[in-house]
Amino acid sequence: MKVSVSVLKEYDNLEVAIDKVNKSSANYLHIDVMDGIFVNNSKFPLDICEKAIKLSNKETDVHLMVNDVETIKEYAYLKPNRLTFHVEVIKNNEIIKYVKSLGIKVGLAINPETNINELMPYVNDIDLVLFMSVNPGLGGQKFINSVTDKIKLFKKLSPKELDISIDGGVNNETINSCREAGCNIVVAGSYVTNMDNYDDAIVNLT
Ligand code: DX5
Ligand code: ZN
Repeated sequence: MKVSVSVLKEYDNLEVAIDKVNKSSANYLHIDVMDGIFVNNSKFPLDICEKAIKLSNKETDVHLMVNDVETIKEYAYLKPNRLTFHVEVIKNNEIIKYVKSLGIKVGLAINPETNINELMPYVNDIDLVLFMSVNPGLGGQKFINSVTDKIKLFKKLSPKELDISIDGGVNNETINSCREAGCNIVVAGSYVTNMDNYDDAIVNLT
């Protein structure tokens, strides 16, 4: 299992948190961008996201909770390794093709209440699906168990094998159902960043 660490809850303490991720065995740094419209919270404006990408020596995985395709393009210019935006926001595959043309891996995120049929038109164009196991907007929420059934069904129906990631409420207890559902990347925020030594948590997730 690969681990992507979200530093959302350490937003006011970013340099220290990213330094801890750099020194840990995490695979990716997960950056949660929120526009105050798609979700009721605003985090990681362009300049702070750019700074986080520069500070990271891990591959960066930027999760855009934004409502506007033009905003997706602005974050693509920062050239993260992976860029994930929400299936609820796009109307066709043009933005996916555009981001891929910049050499960036593309993920589509899907909210807990959104049907997996929404993903199907895009499966052949993307690299990853990010299943939200909380309603997006905040770190530290409780894992929604039913999401793992959705993942199993998606894996059964998908014509292509993709990276399968899950985001929200992942910890040493919920990791087993993530594994059993067939995820190969987990995003973990507060469970990791609440520890002094991030590897003390990451070791329970790999
Ligand atoms: C929620 C974010 C998550 C969040 C995860 O909107 O997308 O990445 O930071 O935090 P935890 O692991 O604390 O639920
Ligand atoms: Zn996220």
